[in-house]
Amino acid sequence: MSLLIKNGRVITAVDDYHADVFVENETVTVIGENLTMEADTVLNAEGKYVIPGGIDPHTHFDMPFGGTVSADDFETGTLAAAHGGTTTVIDFAIQTKGHSTLEGLDTWHAKAEGKTAIDYGFHMIITDLEDDRVPEMRKLADEGVTSYKLFMAYPGVLYSDDGTLFRAMRKAGEDGTVICMHAENGIVIDEIVKSALAEGKTEPKWHGLTRPTRMEAEGVHRSIAIAEVAEVPVYIVHLSSADALEQVVLARDRGVSAFAETCPQYLFLDQSHTEQEGFEGAKYVMTPPLREKWNQEELWRGIRMGDLMSISTDHCPFCFKEQKEMGIGDFSKIPNGGPGVENRMSLVFNGGVVGGRISVNRFVEITSTASAKMFGLFPKKGTIAVGSDADIVIFDPNRKETISVNNPVTHHMNVDYNAYEGYKITGVSETIISRGKIIVDNCEYVGRKGDGQYLKRGFYSG
Ligand code: URP
Ligand code: ZN
Ligand code: ZN
Repeated sequence: MSLLIKNGRVITAVDDYHADVFVENETVTVIGENLTMEADTVLNAEGKYVIPGGIDPHTHFDMPFGGTVSADDFETGTLAAAHGGTTTVIDFAIQTKGHSTLEGLDTWHAKAEGKTAIDYGFHMIITDLEDDRVPEMRKLADEGVTSYKLFMAYPGVLYSDDGTLFRAMRKAGEDGTVICMHAENGIVIDEIVKSALAEGKTEPKWHGLTRPTRMEAEGVHRSIAIAEVAEVPVYIVHLSSADALEQVVLARDRGVSAFAETCPQYLFLDQSHTEQEGFEGAKYVMTPPLREKWNQEELWRGIRMGDLMSISTDHCPFCFKEQKEMGIGDFSKIPNGGPGVENRMSLVFNGGVVGGRISVNRFVEITSTASAKMFGLFPKKGTIAVGSDADIVIFDPNRKETISVNNPVTHHMNVDYNAYEGYKITGVSETIISRGKIIVDNCEYVGRKGDGQYLKRGFYSG
C-alpha cells in the first residue's frame, strides 16, 4: 500500500517547506520535491499544510467518575479525535483502590481493544501504593506505561497523601519514568466546599469559587518540591491559572525538571461561563475550574516562553441531560469534566497562529511533538520524517467553520453540547492519515473501528 501527498507545505516543529511526501505501508519513506513514483493513492495538498497528526496526551474515555461514566468511550472518543486531526491519544487507566495497578491496566485494555480509530497509549492513575505494590511500577513500564498520574485533589476518591506521592515519585525516578500531577490542595478545597454548601451556595458557579487559584499554586509548588527531592521529572496536568504557572516558572528557572500542559478550556473559556442563568453553568464545571479571563493571556505567555510545553484536552465529557443534571441543587455532585478532544487543533490554530500569538512551528510542537518527546513516542510520532509513522494531517489553514453541536464538521463527540458552541474558527483538519491509511477524507470518516493500535511507550528522553 502506498500513498503520495503532493504539493503541500510540510510543517513540523522545526521545518517549513514545500514538498511531496511518499508513504509505503505505515511509514514515511521519501520526502522531496516533485516526486514521480507510482502510488496506490495520490492526494493533492496544494494550498494546505501537511502536519504531524495531533497527540492528545490527556483523555478520559469510558471513565467512571462522580457517580457516572464519561460519555465518550474508546470508539466514539477516538472517532471524534480523528475528525479533529488527532491521531494519538494517551488515556488514563485507573487503579481501583486495594487492587493491583496491573489489573487496572487490563481493565483499560479491555475497554479500548478493537474499538479505536487511532493509536492510543495509557498513563496509570495510582490511587494507593503500599510498599509491597511499589515494584508493580516497573512492570507497568515494561508494558509501555511509562507515566503515572497522582492526585492531590478529590480526597477519598483519587487523592494521594504526600507520603504516597513521594513513594511513587521516588520509584518513577529510579525507573526513568515520569509523574503527571493533578495539583490542587484537595483537603483545603473540601473544607471550603463544605462551608459553601452549609451557607446554601449550591449553584454551578460555586464549584469554581470554592477552588481558589492559590490552592492550585500551592499544589504545584508542593508537588514540584517533592518531585525535586525524589529526583523525578514532574509534568503538571491541566494547569489553569497565572498563579499556578508562576510556580512552574520559578522551578524551571532554578533548573528543576518541571513541565506543564494547559488545555483549550483555560485559553478560550472563563469563569463567566459558569455564572450563566439557571443550571447552564454546569456544562463548564471541570477541575481545575475555569478562571477569571485575565489568566488567559498569562497562559499564552507561558506557551510562548516554553514554560507550558503542550496543550491537551483533559477530555472528560458528561451529557448535560441526566449526567450534569445529577448536580441540580448541589454543585459538588455535578460530574467534573468537559468535552474537547475534537476541537483542540482548530481552537489552538485559530487562537494561536491566526491570533498572532505563536508560529506554525510552535503550533505543531504544542499539539504534537512535545507530547511525543515527553511520553516516549518520538520520533515515530510527533513529526514528519523518513522512518516516522505516517500519521499526517492535511490541514486547510484558511477554511472557516463555526463550532457547534449541530455542525457535522466540528462535532462527533458523544455528548449533547459543545463547550465552544458558536465559536468561529479558521483552520480545519480535513484529511487524516493514521499509519499510512486515510481515515478521514475531506472531513468524512472512512476508517475502520479497531484499526488503532496500542502504543507501548518508551521513556522520557529529556
Ligand atoms: O474535571 C476534570 N478535569 N475531570 C477529569 C478528571 C481530572 O481531574 O483530570
Ligand atoms: Zn486531573
Ligand atoms: Zn484529566
